[in-house]
Amino acid sequence: MLEVKHLDAFYGAVQVLHDVNLFVGKGEIVGLVGANAAGKSTLMFTLAGLRTTHQGEVLLDGVAVDDLAAYERPKRGLVLVPERRRLFPFMTVLENLEIGAYAAEARAVARQTLDEVFALLPVLAERRKQIAGSMSGGEQQMLAIGRALMAKPRVLLLDEPTEGLAPIYVKLLFDLIVSLRASGLTVMIVEQNVHHVLRTADRAYVLENGRIVMEGKGATLLNDDRLKTAYLGL
Ligand SMILES: Nc1ncnc2c1ncn2[C@@H]1O[C@H](COP(=O)(O)OP(=O)(O)OP(=O)(O)O)[C@@H](O)[C@H]1O
Ligand SMILES: [Mg+2]
Repeated sequence: MLEVKHLDAFYGAVQVLHDVNLFVGKGEIVGLVGANAAGKSTLMFTLAGLRTTHQGEVLLDGVAVDDLAAYERPKRGLVLVPERRRLFPFMTVLENLEIGAYAAEARAVARQTLDEVFALLPVLAERRKQIAGSMSGGEQQMLAIGRALMAKPRVLLLDEPTEGLAPIYVKLLFDLIVSLRASGLTVMIVEQNVHHVLRTADRAYVLENGRIVMEGKGATLLNDDRLKTAYLGL
């Protein structure tokens, strides 16, 4: 469904990603792990059309999206939940959710999507009038995901969704991701929480210094000594 071919990414003249090749099949959860500064967020930004310049190809359903601006990609079903959430902190929960449905196609069905999001994430329904910035970290992460779901994604990109969350929210979040897959969504997830993500993901890639150095089934990677010692410092 999502395919990345020979991707090099740059900030100005500085190259951060080198010949990255990967794919995410429909209905899969694919993990991306790697040390700090490996280039995980850079990859997510590049997929979302943000910040970087790149060479190579990003394909969605076999069609290149490289020329699409960041705001156009959600219309094609590619939606990023960025690191550190990037909510609108002075707006309410409901207002943040409504912004997620900014594209005309999503806006047309926003009422129904909102009901679905509230059913999936009841905490957002309870707190719909609360100012987003006053919610707990875990609640804010749920809101960030809820806002992304309002855009009617087909492929959801999650960059460190469990960062700074209490264990109970980490579990809730992975449960949520599994139920999103069950509803047909395709998910790519960057995580520091390596154990959790490798247990949940169908497949995963390991990024080191901007290069994919390992790939495989989550469970296989979890038992790989090379991964543990060389790349994850476990
Ligand atoms: N806007 C930018 N301009 C220049 N260099 C950048 C920019 N953003 C990131 N970098 C550099 O690109 C490299 C990869 O950063 P990136 O944020 O993609 O890593 P990461 O794997 O997401 O790390 P972390 O686990 O800490 O989130 C780092 O060396 C970083 O300093
Ligand atoms: Mg990052």
